[in-house]
Amino acid sequence: MVDTEIQPAPCRAAEGPRVIIREGTTAHHRAAEAVQLAAFDHIHWPFTDDLFLWVEVDGEMGAYLVWRQTAYPDEFEILSLATHPKHQRKGLARKLVQTFCDGREGDIFIEVRESNWGSRAFYKSLGFVETGRRHAYYENNREGAIVMKLRI
Ligand SMILES: CC(C)(COP(=O)(O)OP(=O)(O)OC[C@H]1O[C@@H](n2cnc3c(N)ncnc32)[C@H](O)[C@@H]1OP(=O)(O)O)[C@@H](O)C(=O)NCCC(=O)NCCS
Repeated sequence: MVDTEIQPAPCRAAEGPRVIIREGTTAHHRAAEAVQLAAFDHIHWPFTDDLFLWVEVDGEMGAYLVWRQTAYPDEFEILSLATHPKHQRKGLARKLVQTFCDGREGDIFIEVRESNWGSRAFYKSLGFVETGRRHAYYENNREGAIVMKLRI
C-alpha cells in the first residue's frame, strides 16, 4: 500500500527538522515497534491491524500514535504514543496529537501510568485533564493508571 501524505508541515518552522505526518500501514509495523522499544524499553503494544499515524523526520520514523474509536460518533482512545528518544522534545508527539484532533469532535481518552510524569505533563500541555484513576491497572507491577481526557 502507498503511504498517504496527510499534512506536510514544518514542525518548528525555522529551526527544526522537516516532518511529515503519515498514515501507518503494515509496512510500518517494524519501524513503529523499534520506536516503541527505544521509548518504553519494552513492547507494550504489538502492532497488528491498528490504526496509527506516524511522523517521518529526516527520512525515518520519529514517533507514532495508535488510536481507536471507542464509541460512535465522538469518542476516541489513544492506545500508544511514543517518540524515539533521539527525537524527543522537538514537538513530534504534539504534532501527532494535533493532527489526530484536526477535523474531529468529541472526547479523546488516554490511560497513563501514575509514575509516568513526563507523559502526564505532555498530555496536560495539550489540554488533557485527569478525570480518574484505575487502581492496580498494570499487571506487571500493579501500578495504577491515570485516565486523562481532552474535549475537542
Ligand atoms: C511522552 C512522549 C510521547 C512525548 O513526546 P515528545 O515528542 O518528546 O513530546 P513533544 O516534544 O511534542 O512535547 C510537547 C510538550 O509536552 C511537554 N513535555 C513533553 N515531554 C515532557 C517531559 N518528559 N516532561 C515534562 N513535559 C514534557 C512539554 O510541555 C513539551 O513542550 P516543550 O518541549 O516546548 O517544553 C515521549 O516522551 C515518549 O515517547 N515517552 C515514552 C513513552 C510514553 O511514555 N508514552 C506515553 C504513554 S502512552
